[in-house]
Amino acid sequence: MIELRAAETDDELELWRSVRIAVLPNERTAPVAELRSGGGFMLLAFRDGELAGSGSASKSDIGGGAVTPRVLPAHRRRGVGAALLQQLARHAEECGHSEAGSMVDDAGSLAFAQRFGFSETGRQVEQVRPVGPDEPRPAVPDGIEVVTVAERPELLQRLYHELALQAFEDMPTPRKVEITLEEWKAEWLNWPEATFIALAGDEVVGMAGLNFDADQPDRAENTLTAVRRDRRGRGLARMLKETATAWASAHGIREIYTWTQTGNDNMRAVNERLGFFTRDMSISVRRALPL
Ligand SMILES: CC(C)(COP(=O)(O)OP(=O)(O)OC[C@H]1O[C@@H](n2cnc3c(N)ncnc32)[C@H](O)[C@@H]1OP(=O)(O)O)[C@@H](O)C(=O)NCCC(=O)NCCS
Repeated sequence: MIELRAAETDDELELWRSVRIAVLPNERTAPVAELRSGGGFMLLAFRDGELAGSGSASKSDIGGGAVTPRVLPAHRRRGVGAALLQQLARHAEECGHSEAGSMVDDAGSLAFAQRFGFSETGRQVEQVRPVGPDEPRPAVPDGIEVVTVAERPELLQRLYHELALQAFEDMPTPRKVEITLEEWKAEWLNWPEATFIALAGDEVVGMAGLNFDADQPDRAENTLTAVRRDRRGRGLARMLKETATAWASAHGIREIYTWTQTGNDNMRAVNERLGFFTRDMSISVRRALPL
């Protein structure tokens, strides 16, 4: 028998996290406090009393809803994913969304999504860089100064307005990313000491940084790397990412990973030159609601 239950208490949210960590072991899973502040609808699935899956319904950064059913491998092909998806999609619809998106990483999950009428809208590539113990800090070009968000917290708003919004406009996502300053800070800027800003005099011209992973502090995800349009093509992204890598190296991090849209050739080329290799691919899928 399949039973679905909203995850509300801390213990239930930890169960929710345990499924996500098992299904997506290479990725950071938000801690309970961050899940709560994200405001998503969190659902648990039990099969014959055993934890079998979890999922969430929330607002997507590219508009509409985002639904993410996940089932532990031992419980697949027993209808758990379908039960989760139906309730999550209903919730997204009740929130006023007329469509919903999700991500799938393997052929079986893509077959599941297609079975429920989702179709592909784009792809993301995961690139990974092992980090050695003595990564050198790069030279900083003349006229540029590198500071961290921890040192200059007053620059946060300007990072969002002058860099992040421009970068989101230029990303080849199926729809434009729409994210408020508050959401951006919560999702993309959880490690001020590891978020580097390039300044040219008083102008904010670039940023790159890392997101902290409390479950696995020896790995970190690259957050947004962005260079102001008029300053691109001069090695700033590379210098900022090397700065973040050197910082990671000195702070015990041994792996940095990053997700980039296919079509974002500039960012992927920068990463390849920095020693990143491709580990995984993820397909974005979408469909109209109701299911
Ligand atoms: C996708 C996922 C949630 C499916 O969970 P599940 O409990 O195994 O799915 P269900 O048993 O409810 O499958 C319902 C139908 O989807 C299709 N389907 C599911 N998995 C499939 C697979 N591996 N190959 C082909 N078809 C599949 C089948 O039509 C299936 O019905 P059937 O078993 O009667 O043939 C699970 O594989 C998973 O957690 N994947 C990783 C996370 C993810 O990608 N989520 C999907 C977001 S849309």
